Amino acid sequence: MKFSNLLIKWYLKEKRDLPWRNSLNPYHIWLSEIILQQTRVAQGLPYYTAFVKQFPTVFDLAAANESEVLKLWQGLGYYSRARNLHKTAQIVALQYNGVFPENYNDLLHLKGVGSYTAAAIASFAYNEHVPVVDGNVFRVLARYYNIDNDIAAHSSKKLFWDLALTLIPENNAATFNQAIMEFGALQCVPKSPNCPNCIFNESCAALQHKKVDKLPVKLKKTVVKNKFLNYLIYIDEKKHTIIQQRTEKGIWQNLYEFPLIETAYTVDLAYITEQIEANNKPFAVLEMNPIEIVHKLTHQKLHIKFWEINTAKLPQHGIAFEKILDYAMPIVIFNFITKTYKK
Ligand code: ADE
Repeated sequence: MKFSNLLIKWYLKEKRDLPWRNSLNPYHIWLSEIILQQTRVAQGLPYYTAFVKQFPTVFDLAAANESEVLKLWQGLGYYSRARNLHKTAQIVALQYNGVFPENYNDLLHLKGVGSYTAAAIASFAYNEHVPVVDGNVFRVLARYYNIDNDIAAHSSKKLFWDLALTLIPENNAATFNQAIMEFGALQCVPKSPNCPNCIFNESCAALQHKKVDKLPVKLKKTVVKNKFLNYLIYIDEKKHTIIQQRTEKGIWQNLYEFPLIETAYTVDLAYITEQIEANNKPFAVLEMNPIEIVHKLTHQKLHIKFWEINTAKLPQHGIAFEKILDYAMPIVIFNFITKTYKK
């Protein structure tokens, strides 16, 4: 248990003071874990604070409109997390009378809660003896024990889970799990960790074998798809524009956006003008960003262009342009309107 004791000692001295760590309330812990999925602590922190303030209990979150939740989530990305968060809050409020499941296996039944999140809630809120295995934990253990199994392989998950389980001190899962994640986030970082100044510099197997920069091994490469999005910013004589809600499944489901022409490659003004003239004749079509905005997501690379269309009459029902910021939009569109476009 030398590893675990040293690790916990390090944690108690070096840990960041993060608000969800001062709470045993499973609602707070669940909220923080959903926000922190695929999000760095510095980015997630203000969102956590805003959610706890606006929705102090699971009943408050359950009673909110989805658009209110999406608006507060704006900028965090992966919007299915926000939709699942909201749906799960409703299930907990209505079917569980507001009481979160109190153990790992039951927590797994909640939408959006996988093995990592269930283990995090179970250990942090109830001190249940289950390990958390996230990217930080993979890295710390792969290096300390010099394990070169591919962490993207399904079988590795069990290997690391079993190993982490043996390391949890009795009755101290909450602190140990926080400690190992914090160690991965602050000390045993992916690139250029400060090994000379590390509590494990005499026992870390990767350091002894000069393999710190080779571990963990992650082989599976994600395939990135290019998408070309052309947003049409209609402006009529009353300064009204058109926005519509995305309904199809995907990253931006239920968010609002301008009418969209998706193309197979980058298109020019003549192409867009031709598409629009097929329906009605505008006064002018203007290319707003000659250099496309590139927005990278895990599995997609979006190439985004905005086109302003001045017209006498909108082809469909519109809203005052100045009202569009009331609607939850993908952050690239929000940034373009507020920083570059500014009507
Ligand atoms: N990332 C995910 N969960 C976390 C937690 N509880 N503390 C710090 N970083 C985290």
